[in-house]
Amino acid sequence: MAEPYYIPSGDEVAVFEQCHAHQLAVMLKGPTGCGKTRFVEYMAWRLGRPLITVSCHDDLSAGDLVGRYLIHHDDTVWQDGPLASAARHGAICYLDEVVEARQDTVVVLHSLTDYRRTLPLEKTGELIHAAAGFQLVVSYNPGYQRMLKDMKPSTRQRFVALDFDFPPAEREIAILVHEGGVDAGTAHALVTLTHKLRGLQDRGLAEVPSTRLLVATAKLIAGGIPLRRACYAGLVAPLSDDGSLVGAMRDLVDLSFA
Ligand SMILES: Nc1ncnc2c1ncn2[C@@H]1O[C@H](COP(=O)(O)OP(=O)(O)OP(=O)(O)O)[C@@H](O)[C@H]1O
Ligand SMILES: [Mg+2]
Repeated sequence: MAEPYYIPSGDEVAVFEQCHAHQLAVMLKGPTGCGKTRFVEYMAWRLGRPLITVSCHDDLSAGDLVGRYLIHHDDTVWQDGPLASAARHGAICYLDEVVEARQDTVVVLHSLTDYRRTLPLEKTGELIHAAAGFQLVVSYNPGYQRMLKDMKPSTRQRFVALDFDFPPAEREIAILVHEGGVDAGTAHALVTLTHKLRGLQDRGLAEVPSTRLLVATAKLIAGGIPLRRACYAGLVAPLSDDGSLVGAMRDLVDLSFA
């Protein structure tokens, strides 16, 4: 696998490596589109571990994580779920948006995230001892979700937490050049505009433009879509349906790219 492109923002690589070495679970907190998933992909590559990703939602059951019996011809066959499979094979198991999952689902993580490092398969009676490289990583977006009230202290206190935020300007510019395919001048202008748009949070903009939106906008520009059109479609329209907010954002675009 090729090295995933990831620009560190601080000491997160070193902290994660220590967590991996000491078999500690990690929680990544930060707004949507700021690089959490990319960071996990990069760390899995760096540590040479397979990565198993699960997107959590409120229908996710313990069985979805642990596994279940499937009917195969006239037989029933046990099939490991992603968590059991990761524990058995020493993979990094990444649970995206973990607070979306119900409490009764999340508790199956507990025995894997303390000294036991085991996962009981109640249906088969097997007790899986996690392989050495197994590591649990979860992420969530503290802003828009149901907040921490949904994660019990007994769950939260099983993780080392890393805070994520949008990269500082010069790193976001480098990301746009690399991922978006625009020149440095255009990337600089886009990042400057984005900082102004992020400033509108005080004026009621609930969601501010993420690095992900910025990369998408840069791709439109690199593909030949005129600057302002690309910004309206890629950076402004996804954020709000409120006419006056959209108007204010379009004005900022027009000022930036007159
Ligand atoms: N530090 C970084 N280095 C390289 N690329 C980055 C970095 N941060 C963000 N990106 C870019 O931003 C995009 C979105 O990042 P990513 O998918 O990791 O966000 P996320 O935090 O997982 O969002 P969500 O919470 O919505 O899942 C990536 O595809 C990548 O192009
Ligand atoms: Mg993600």
